[in-house]
Amino acid sequence: MSQRTPIIGGNWKMNTGLESGMSLAGSIVDSLEVFDSCDVVLYPPLTFLQAIESVIGDSSIALGAQNMWHEESGAFTGEISGAMLGDVGVTSVLVGHSERRHVMGETDACIQQKVSTGVALGLQVVLCVGETLDQREAGNTLNVVLSQVRSGLSNIQEDQLVQLVLAYEPVWAIGTGKTATPEDAQNVHLEIRSTIAELYTDAVAQQTRIQYGGSVKPDNAADLFACEDIDGALIGGASLSADSFTAIVKATRTP
Ligand code: PGA
Repeated sequence: MSQRTPIIGGNWKMNTGLESGMSLAGSIVDSLEVFDSCDVVLYPPLTFLQAIESVIGDSSIALGAQNMWHEESGAFTGEISGAMLGDVGVTSVLVGHSERRHVMGETDACIQQKVSTGVALGLQVVLCVGETLDQREAGNTLNVVLSQVRSGLSNIQEDQLVQLVLAYEPVWAIGTGKTATPEDAQNVHLEIRSTIAELYTDAVAQQTRIQYGGSVKPDNAADLFACEDIDGALIGGASLSADSFTAIVKATRTP
């Protein structure tokens, strides 16, 4: 990991209840009270956002949402706008998570609109990209991932890139217990960074954080974080336990 501040996200997905979510957030806050060498964001289910915000309070942990809709308001039954998220204290939003792409059928065009709107609203946008197993086995990993990056960033100006975090999450590694090797992940991260340099400048590419996601656990986190272009992680399963989540956060300290 470089001089970029690492960022660890806890993506709770559709898990926890109100009480258990508040207690999980409380344990994370307590355990990370004196830890400030990386950014930490929790992404609870939408209906718990305000409750989790009250637990996070003035700690250095940020509140995130797992999704948003790109329109400001109107007849979009079941959706939530970025401004509504901001109203309850959300400062970060996941866009294009593989479950949104592959389970809910979100397209690159839809994801592109969400990225633009989120950034325009002043949110930190975590643009998630990643290839499926079939795409990987067909040798298409870089084509798929880099085209998702280009498409997701296509309306973003260089001075807005500071609001973006990229998350490389190979779909075959999410929730499966299979992790990309640190070398494989590092190669893809480097290609993503080179693409950002091509689209903008090398300087801005060097400042952009790229998280890895996909079965990150306390026992594989340090090896991933030791890679030059891996700037933290987006954690699913292991973020549901305060012990494992905070162990991963603390692993960012190990060079
Ligand atoms: P996982 O999920 O850590 O359970 O593989 C990662 C993610 O979906 O962000």
